[in-house]
Amino acid sequence: MKTTILILAVLFSCFLYSENANILVTGGAGYIGSHTCKALREKGFNPIVYDSLINGSEEAVKWGPFIKGDLLDSKKLEEAFQRYHPVAVIHFAALTNIFDSTLDPDSYYRTNIVGSLNILHCMKKYDVKKIIFSSSCAVYGEKNFSQICEKEKKEPINPYGFSKHVVEQMIQDFANAYGLDYVILRYFNAAGIDHEAGLIRAGNLRNFLIPKAIEIALNPKIKLPIFGTQFNTPDGTAIRDYIHVMDIARAHQLALNYLLAKKTSYCLNLGTGKGYSVNEVIHMIESCVGKSLPVENKPAREGELTKMVADPALSRKILRFEPIYSDLKTIVESELMAQKKDLGIHNTKERVE
Ligand SMILES: NC(=O)c1ccc[n+]([C@@H]2O[C@H](COP(=O)([O-])OP(=O)(O)OC[C@H]3O[C@@H](n4cnc5c(N)ncnc54)[C@H](O)[C@@H]3O)[C@@H](O)[C@H]2O)c1
Repeated sequence: MKTTILILAVLFSCFLYSENANILVTGGAGYIGSHTCKALREKGFNPIVYDSLINGSEEAVKWGPFIKGDLLDSKKLEEAFQRYHPVAVIHFAALTNIFDSTLDPDSYYRTNIVGSLNILHCMKKYDVKKIIFSSSCAVYGEKNFSQICEKEKKEPINPYGFSKHVVEQMIQDFANAYGLDYVILRYFNAAGIDHEAGLIRAGNLRNFLIPKAIEIALNPKIKLPIFGTQFNTPDGTAIRDYIHVMDIARAHQLALNYLLAKKTSYCLNLGTGKGYSVNEVIHMIESCVGKSLPVENKPAREGELTKMVADPALSRKILRFEPIYSDLKTIVESELMAQKKDLGIHNTKERVE
């Protein structure tokens, strides 16, 4: 009975809201944001992108209006709320590089914390009651478990992770005081690309292991640095839980439907529950590309964690979310296809057909 009522409520809310309902998507010109805008558009929502383009690209804004603006520009932000009256906010915009955050915490705290406070202030002022926030597994800090569940203590070890932890707390305080509903999604490692959508990758994306390694595999001018080979893992390299960006995008669409239908708020991990070491990822790339990668071992960077693997049970239960594209081979192949497309390289198979 309870399940039937929930399903009817979700269907009703989809009917109520999906007909072009405006969703303000901060950071929608970036990597995960642009994939999510596509997923939202496919379900009939109207994603309004608000992005400064510091790391995003206007060419990635294909599924709704675009406002070029900074989170720290309160006036511009207010104009977006006044003009579009969003029913919900999906808040991606942030500075995202862990190592950079240790070098420049000022910028990270300003953008990620003050910028998020500006969003929450506008939501309060313009009576927008639903938010989905991009948090990170970095909020947990170093943990010695095979999988990390949402209840684990939050002990971030770098300014980036700390900024996400603070914003999570701010959202919860606003929820208690002003009646917000939220879904906070703690992504593990986003990877892969929707190569068919022709999304332009954000400028800093190639700082990530998989795109960087594929770039070098296709054009081996430099060696791939492996940061840290003395971690306490079976092969000494760091272990991460990679989830395909298209799965993350769909999880947002599910979280939005959930949030528009219900008033229960959650913090949820988004991961697969399976971890791969840097060396395992490199071997997968070598097998997909068909040649070995030139690598060089470097010391671990400040702020790097040994092993981050999600316990994905709660997001599966609450959002009924199952990753579809997140096996490592599919992720690597999607990146490979995208980069070959960028370089104008065609598969032999395609040429024969
Ligand atoms: N990529 C991952 O693996 C990962 C993992 C955990 C959490 N996250 C979080 O997901 C979100 C999206 O990450 P992404 O990988 O798509 O990064 P991204 O850099 O591609 O996207 C972030 C977007 O925010 C915009 N932006 C940054 N500062 C801004 C400002 N002051 N005002 C307006 N726009 C601004 C950038 O221009 C960019 O388009 C971030 O909040 C990030 O912390 C990402």
